[in-house]
Amino acid sequence: MTNNKASRLLAAYLYLGASGVIAQQQTTWGQCGGIGYSGPTSCTSGTSCSTLNSYYAQCIPATGIITSTRTTLASTSATTTTSASRTTSATSIPPPSSGVRFAGINIAGFDFSCSTDGTCNVSGAYPPLKNYDGANNYPDGVGQMQHFVKDDGFNIFRLPVSWQYLVNANLGGTLDATNLGYYDQLVQGCLATGAYCIIDIHNYARWNGKIIGQGGPTNAQFTSLWTQIATKYASEPRIWFGTMNEPHDVNITTWAGTVQAVVTAIRNAGATSQYISLPGTDYQSAGQIISDGGAAALSAIKNPDGSTTNLIFDVHKYLDSDNSGTNSICVTDNVDSAFAPLATWLRTNKRQAILTETGGGNTPSCEQYMCQQIQYLNQNSDVYMGYVGWAAGSFDPGYPLAETPVQASSGAWTDQPLVSMCLAR
Ligand SMILES: *[C@@H]1O[C@H](CO)[C@@H](O)[C@H](O)[C@H]1NC(C)=O
Ligand SMILES: *[C@@H]1O[C@H](CO)[C@@H](O)[C@H](O)[C@H]1NC(C)=O
Repeated sequence: MTNNKASRLLAAYLYLGASGVIAQQQTTWGQCGGIGYSGPTSCTSGTSCSTLNSYYAQCIPATGIITSTRTTLASTSATTTTSASRTTSATSIPPPSSGVRFAGINIAGFDFSCSTDGTCNVSGAYPPLKNYDGANNYPDGVGQMQHFVKDDGFNIFRLPVSWQYLVNANLGGTLDATNLGYYDQLVQGCLATGAYCIIDIHNYARWNGKIIGQGGPTNAQFTSLWTQIATKYASEPRIWFGTMNEPHDVNITTWAGTVQAVVTAIRNAGATSQYISLPGTDYQSAGQIISDGGAAALSAIKNPDGSTTNLIFDVHKYLDSDNSGTNSICVTDNVDSAFAPLATWLRTNKRQAILTETGGGNTPSCEQYMCQQIQYLNQNSDVYMGYVGWAAGSFDPGYPLAETPVQASSGAWTDQPLVSMCLAR
């Protein structure tokens, strides 16, 4: 998610929050807050309003309370625990015969509570693991991925997680065994589908308000994180190292030096050939990466052997009026303003990019523009490797940009309209 107008929108949110529009109570899993939201802000009894990010708060049941919808998921609860043993035997999904190589969706939740200044509350994470606390009442991210692969032709998932969660808020420390164990369940569930799996550190180039390598955490503290992750997944060819989510307001030259340090650390940890993301500033905007100097600065990053093999530009783009991904109405297909000029730059420089966040409302305008955007990417698959929608996982189907499928008691999944109309193949 991007937030180009954070302060203005935050002011609007605070105003709404103070205006006292709380006549009715929101139902379980329904939205109860967030920038631009004006519905009920108090939750029905037995649930509490939990802020997932600046744009979304949802009524979440207290631990142990199982809603009727979630109860039906318990019958298949063995899936997650058996997925690890299937990982090594899972075969890679064959690439499609035409169009972009990768299509998929973000499975969010381990990143919940992160704000754009890189402040993330470890206990604010809402893992999309249905057995997270043993009560089978969390969203079933692994089941969602299995459905997406089987029914929608998807072959890549991005798995956002906060840096704080992985090290249990100990900056520069070792990966926390318990927290990593939970996150790894999602990773193994992804690998077991045969898909590629992007490990996304969802920290906006920051830790608690301070920029990495620019007055905040040192490059050594950040590369320590990546060295440990790369060591763990070095032998998994379908792990994609998603360096950092949405850097913004950074010195791009200095930031490129930080990304170079991460690339070197990952390669030296033994992950010698996997894909690594190169994220620029301006929230990775595909429309600004050339003009803001990101493309030029990041193109200097090299593997230890001097090559740029599998170092992929990683961009985001929404289709609403301010590219914030907060509005359910879309106004552009982004082709003339972003994807066409970037395609020319990539071709000229013999490089490739992947779009790891894009999304919109399940509305006619978004269905029209999203389908046009995806068609353009498919027609330019020499430079665009793929797209990953925002978002499923722990997002409630009522979230304005929900790509979360809904499971019936029969076990059958139903996709959101934007997913079935534009993203699936
Ligand atoms: C962190 O999240 C937990 C659970 O949502 C909450 O109870 C706590 O107040 C949060 N802490 C801060 C500092 O926001
Ligand atoms: C960015 O940092 C570099 C040093 O890495 C410095 O030379 C340059 O002036 C900085 N740019 C800005 C706009 O501050």
